[in-house]
Amino acid sequence: MSKDIWRRIAEKVDEHDFMAGIRRDHLRISATAEVFTPTDLVIEILRYLDPEVLAPGKTVLDPACGDGQFLVAAKWFKVLHFGMNEEAALRDIYGVDIMRDNVDLCRRRLGGGTVLMGNSLRPSERLPLQTEAEHAQMLALFGEGNESERRKRKPRLHKVGAAHRSAGDATVVASLF
Ligand SMILES: C[S@@+](CC[C@H](N)C(=O)[O-])C[C@H]1O[C@@H](n2cnc3c(N)ncnc32)[C@H](O)[C@@H]1O
Repeated sequence: MSKDIWRRIAEKVDEHDFMAGIRRDHLRISATAEVFTPTDLVIEILRYLDPEVLAPGKTVLDPACGDGQFLVAAKWFKVLHFGMNEEAALRDIYGVDIMRDNVDLCRRRLGGGTVLMGNSLRPSERLPLQTEAEHAQMLALFGEGNESERRKRKPRLHKVGAAHRSAGDATVVASLF
């Protein structure tokens, strides 16, 4: 794959200054682990993936999406490598974050996609600033029921925790959580 595509994707990600737009003091950062992945590392990780896992129709989920470092790169990979239009690429993009402002910023950066406020570790939890629609979508994405019931069922989406992980044949979980 041409170096030029990766350079152009990095430029798109860097249209937003790293960790910018939200004031995060050290208390907040230690509570939420909001230290985002620098663009060069995002590109390095994505370069290791088989490009087909980002092909048209392949869902990309970052369950701890922050301000969207991975999701913005994944969107532009779909556009620049596979020739998808932005609207179609965004239909494949999903993000979840527990912080309202990250969710809103990520959505703005992407220009769409399904970006929800939610707790990926306890998807059925109703968060104070979460909308009804977001809560319903969290249940639809991760499944309903309490944690112990959910653990007994085969998860629809893999648990968070690795640099990237394939879940079934259609979902890529891309997150440093
Ligand atoms: C280390 S940052 C990673 C952000 C992004 N994936 C990246 O690599 O730049 C972790 C993110 O997870 C969010 N977070 C923490 N606990 C969470 C939870 N239980 N559910 C969803 N998001 C969570 C934080 O708000 C933060 O934005």
